[in-house]
Amino acid sequence: KQQKILVVGSANTDMVIQTDHLPVLGETILGGTFFMNPGGKGANQAVAIARLGGKITFICKTGRDVFGHQSHQLFEDEGIDTSYIFSDSKYPSGIAMITVDHKAENCITVAPGANMNLTPTDLAKARSAIDEADIILLQLEIPMETVEYVAKVAKKQNKKVILNPAPAQPLSEELLSALYLITPNETEAELICGQKITDIDSVTKAANLIKAKGVKNVIITMGSKGAFVCTDTICELVPSYKVKAVDTTGAGDIFNGALVLAISEGRDWIEATRFACKTSAIAVTRVGAQSSAPYRNEVDVFNPEK
Ligand code: RIB
Ligand code: NA
Repeated sequence: KQQKILVVGSANTDMVIQTDHLPVLGETILGGTFFMNPGGKGANQAVAIARLGGKITFICKTGRDVFGHQSHQLFEDEGIDTSYIFSDSKYPSGIAMITVDHKAENCITVAPGANMNLTPTDLAKARSAIDEADIILLQLEIPMETVEYVAKVAKKQNKKVILNPAPAQPLSEELLSALYLITPNETEAELICGQKITDIDSVTKAANLIKAKGVKNVIITMGSKGAFVCTDTICELVPSYKVKAVDTTGAGDIFNGALVLAISEGRDWIEATRFACKTSAIAVTRVGAQSSAPYRNEVDVFNPEK
């Protein structure tokens, strides 16, 4: 039976300008084309899962403005279960201002708006979505107490709770010990365990330090180098695929969505991580965050050199 996936997190509208270089302090630069794309770490993950064929429910909160309405419509068009999406006229929908340079690097400023008002009380109203889920994916663009609430309720029912700890923030021991898997990037991993990551030795150390905090499994994403997988049975680097990147925005989110989808399908750690690396490799070759998430058939036929 197909497992049910729940993503609880943020939905934004990304306002993107492509430039030659990222501006420095006090600098004004003339950029290129302007795009408005759907984004938000939670929504990016949910859409990635939907496009890969997952059975997915998404919980978020938007304002009742044009951006919020547009997001709801998009989620429905993607085949996501939107029964527990909240909207509140007191807050504006989440917005992200993004600059992307010619090397596909970016700078992001988020005005979270309604996302930061998705409360534990809201989640208590969506309790049946948690109860029905087999596997739950969280990030940190909503209040920490909401993340902690969901993790606690789900953990009590022995569900798999996965945290993508982005953007980086300190995490409580209680939260860490409720997690089946955590997926920090190098910076986030350093913040969690204090270990600077420079090579395989230090990433191994970092992963083990994080496991010592009570998280069962750790996958540290290392950008174009790949992902370091550290579980009960293995500790190894899964290399990523060489592609020509044009926009890396949301690549981490799409990696996480794909990873959770593959875990829900019962794939082993290495297979699941490879699948996630493939999916995010395709995403970085395209402009935009959510809109760059590939469909299942595209990932299945993707086979470039490692
Ligand atoms: O991870 C990328 C996302 O971060 C963007 O879509 C933006 O909305 C911010 O939430
Ligand atoms: Na992209």
